[in-house]
Amino acid sequence: MQYVNSDEARSILLNNGLVIIPTETVYGLAGLATSYEAVQKIFEYKNRPADNPLICHFYSKDHIEEYVTSIPKHLEVLIDVFCPGPLTILLDAKDSSLSAAMRGQRKIGCRIPSNEITLDLIKTVGIPLAAPSANPSGMPSSTHIQMAFDYFRDLKGGVLVNESELNMKSEIGIESTIIEYKDDEVIILREGAIGVEEIRSVLPNLYVHVGTSTKTVPGNKYRHYSPNARIIPIADLSKIPSNLKNYCIITTKDNSKHVLMQDVPRICIADNANEKAIAQKLYSTLIEVDNKSYTTAYWYIPELTINTSIGKALQNRLSKIFEPLDLA
Ligand code: TXA
Ligand code: MG
Repeated sequence: MQYVNSDEARSILLNNGLVIIPTETVYGLAGLATSYEAVQKIFEYKNRPADNPLICHFYSKDHIEEYVTSIPKHLEVLIDVFCPGPLTILLDAKDSSLSAAMRGQRKIGCRIPSNEITLDLIKTVGIPLAAPSANPSGMPSSTHIQMAFDYFRDLKGGVLVNESELNMKSEIGIESTIIEYKDDEVIILREGAIGVEEIRSVLPNLYVHVGTSTKTVPGNKYRHYSPNARIIPIADLSKIPSNLKNYCIITTKDNSKHVLMQDVPRICIADNANEKAIAQKLYSTLIEVDNKSYTTAYWYIPELTINTSIGKALQNRLSKIFEPLDLA
């Protein structure tokens, strides 16, 4: 594994190799979406279940149009408003050219990422890039270049870097919103930074709702986002078993002054209970728990209230990560 610039990344991709790409949501492990060889490598490196399709990354709406039968009017409006950005739209495939990435699905997961260096790379390659999150299946997604590097040290390929440090961290930190349009409804199949409210503000006359069908999005049925350590939410610090060893508390800087916490190792995820800031640091914090060899982390942010779409997406990921207190 090595750091590569855009020219090197392009040549690796065109030779059916893999490149880790920064995006505004999380890092992606990318290969040519038209290449069975490249897509096969992605599945092998990630140890990904074979029925789980890959999102394809395009550089523009016109680029998407080359591969799909048509873009319904309402979805076109969403693309115009939110893309490039953290939105993935399921659209009917025109032919079988992206079938390696689709794994038997009729629709292609289409996304235009907003990170400039990645967008430029897709443009110069000229072919959509299939890219799942850059993590071994089941583990937290990479939101920092070091996480991606550590996960895929043995990868024969590269990590795309810019000379500026700007793309070191993913700004959003939670995967893109996945939507489908059916029977005049917009269904959110995976929650992300663009939620019901943002979509309704653009399409006020449509029914927009969350429905996380595992039939439509096969990935929803698999274990996700979890580090090796157990992550347990706690509202009362005195409930931590007194004989427990090797644990830490994930909390905010504000809370870490709490008197019951003084003798316990703490990892501060953010200054205060800001939904956006916590979402951005979620996965890197979980990996920090593993890297420091804690086997249990208590999540103590009782004052966190959910008001925004990114907050709801954060809550959705936490619900998959948390283990109940009584298992402690
Ligand atoms: O933010 C993101 O979406 C990141 C970055 C790298 O773009 N990618 C990402 O990919 O999160 P992944 O593979 O970790 O999650 C993709 C999810 C999976 O649950 C998969 O089942 C679903 O999207 N998916 C992909 N293509 C699909 C399709 N054609 N039909 C139904 N579901 C699809
Ligand atoms: Mg993933």
